[in-house]
Amino acid sequence: MRIVRTKNYEDMSKKAADIIASVILLKPNCVLGLATGSSPIGTYQNLVKKYEAKDLDFSQVRSVNLDEYKGLPRENEQSYYYFMHDNLFSKVNIKPENTHLPNGMEPDSQKACQEYDEVIKSMNGVDMQLLGLGHDGHIGFNEPNSEFDKSTHCVNLTEMTIEANKRFFASIDDVPRQAYTMGVGTIMAAKMVVMVVSGKDKAEILQKAFFGPVTPEVPASILQFHPNFVLVADEDALSLVK
Ligand code: GLP
Repeated sequence: MRIVRTKNYEDMSKKAADIIASVILLKPNCVLGLATGSSPIGTYQNLVKKYEAKDLDFSQVRSVNLDEYKGLPRENEQSYYYFMHDNLFSKVNIKPENTHLPNGMEPDSQKACQEYDEVIKSMNGVDMQLLGLGHDGHIGFNEPNSEFDKSTHCVNLTEMTIEANKRFFASIDDVPRQAYTMGVGTIMAAKMVVMVVSGKDKAEILQKAFFGPVTPEVPASILQFHPNFVLVADEDALSLVK
């Protein structure tokens, strides 16, 4: 595990975007595993800036996103499809047919998950997986569990996650209770994993995940075993790390 210590959210976002840009420069047709949430928004803004400055070309880039709420249509502003279009896809020259998210509107969970695993398989692996960190240690929507889930599956979101995500919805009742998420096995199979973490509210879980025992109760902790894991975190998030 390598830690890139940054001053603040802006600095974190810039450095994470620099790392991702280098992946694209080295392999123009790379497969990017992408994430949602507030942590990677600044990273996407910096990638858009590089594209606008003609320093980055997404024309051959392919992407697979980590997760999607079950039951939210694409046009719902809180769907991850909408988020990705709003924050990145509509602002760079990535081809729409090269972007992939689980189909949240497929009511048959088994079918949705199987189809998504086939999409991931057809890409021959993820070159760089971007991640945020949930307050309970979740990655994607892999919530604390008694075991690590390998492939794409349907999850029941924990109360903590529903509570954390309610800020984006009109009321807590509007937060979907289920989501489709890439499994921990797929995340671990990525050639490189980059996690962005910012803020004092993430300090405790960051310390637990990367300096505590590896356990499915803290899903992110498994990244301690990843051979090419880069944690890009700001001083506040790293404040409990000695
Ligand atoms: C959501 C997403 C995760 C994300 C997490 C943290 O639950 N499914 O992929 O990492 O929230 O979000 P934030 O970055 O807003 O703290």
